[in-house]
Amino acid sequence: MAQVILENVYKSFPQRKGDASAQVKDNINKSDAARTEGVSVLRRINLTVADGEFMVLVGPSGCGKSTLLRLIAGLETMTGGNISVGDKLVNDLPPKERDIAMVFQNYALYPHMTVYDNIAFGLRRRSLDNLEDGDKSNSSFVENFLVSATRKLPKGLRYLSEKEKSIDQQVKNVAQLLQIEALLKRLPKQLSGGQRQRVALGRAIARNPQVFLMDEPLSNLDAKLRAETRAQIVKLQRQLGTTTIYVTHDQTEAMTMGDRIAILNQGQLQQVAPPLELYNRPANRFVAEFIGSPPMNFIPVKFQAPQIITNGDFRMTLPEIWGATLQKYDGKTVILGIRPEHLIVGVPATKNLPAQVDLVENLGNDTYLSTQLIIPGFQRQSFSNTSLQVRIPPDRSIKMGEQIWLSLTPEKLHFFDPETELAIYPKTSPTLPFEK
Ligand SMILES: Nc1ncnc2c1ncn2[C@@H]1O[C@H](COP(=O)(O)OP(=O)(O)O)[C@@H](O)[C@H]1O
Ligand SMILES: [Mg+2]
Repeated sequence: MAQVILENVYKSFPQRKGDASAQVKDNINKSDAARTEGVSVLRRINLTVADGEFMVLVGPSGCGKSTLLRLIAGLETMTGGNISVGDKLVNDLPPKERDIAMVFQNYALYPHMTVYDNIAFGLRRRSLDNLEDGDKSNSSFVENFLVSATRKLPKGLRYLSEKEKSIDQQVKNVAQLLQIEALLKRLPKQLSGGQRQRVALGRAIARNPQVFLMDEPLSNLDAKLRAETRAQIVKLQRQLGTTTIYVTHDQTEAMTMGDRIAILNQGQLQQVAPPLELYNRPANRFVAEFIGSPPMNFIPVKFQAPQIITNGDFRMTLPEIWGATLQKYDGKTVILGIRPEHLIVGVPATKNLPAQVDLVENLGNDTYLSTQLIIPGFQRQSFSNTSLQVRIPPDRSIKMGEQIWLSLTPEKLHFFDPETELAIYPKTSPTLPFEK
């Protein structure tokens, strides 16, 4: 078991002409560019994954998740920074010496090998590596030869060395753990997607590594199987207690699986926190929008001391705690954030938001409304539009085209600085980890 520490990890790829990812370069500051002279895809990544922790790395497609995982695995070289696994700096170690097992989205099973041999593969290779590292006695060499030469024969005729017996035991343990004992003789093409994924997991588990790295391992499964396998992976990880870094672009997976979640955007970490802390106290607008579905709504409002926000005819008195917090924005615009589940259909009032319903989605347990704000005199800003997503209980019947008034749950308001997009929190609340 081991912790994984990333310190100031940088990665840039040599620039290629006409490369769409070159846009990323425009967003970075000069000194970074000078330092890396290419397309910078990861910048100043500092992250400590605790021993035994399940860390989910989440972010939109192209933000650098796979690249970061490949750097940790040693499949890609860093441009700068340090990576340690356990107490060992692994910067210059080849993948097989890092004691890490990786599971990919496309399973990467050997098609010509049975499930059994796929799981045993890493174990056999490891014993061969050990052999190369010194134990070159003739008897081991002969044993290995006999094992390879008779592997294809019926079971009774196979030569089983001590090593092979122990591998056999490990494969069977893992198969039992994953409930794939009945599949051991099949080839990958004779398996369903979910079964293949379990075999790929089995292969990683059999190696008993210090760290698991998983790159969107559930993406190829249908929704039901994805939810099942999600729960299975979490359970397995708890059982094994192996430090795990799990990559996904899916915020639901992140929220349900991680002890903590690290959110990445454009190659930079945005926030690292337990799921509910991300939901309740997002560090910035990006995190606020990325976590939660449907996403948080953002409305530009003008703050007026002591504690009023307005836009057009909308005018709301804030809970007292916000007065002091927003003082420096007096007479200025701030971004108000409100989640769809914190809007309630209410009565006509200036403190409520008038909106027209564009779309009603009945999900059975919930109803989602897509609405357009119709506040007289409403001033839009570049960062916002006039649409507003609302989640209401299913027993409330609302029709398309209807006009409604939405009231904001006062204790569920969020505020963001319009320039930096950083969240603004009342000073009296406990310090956030990212502020330390
Ligand atoms: N070998 C490479 N050469 C150049 N650019 C690359 C290479 N691999 C990845 N990139 C770029 O790095 C960025 C991050 O990619 P990736 O880590 O695969 O993102 P994610 O896994 O989050 O979708 C992308 O813009 C991608 O185009
Ligand atoms: Mg990826």
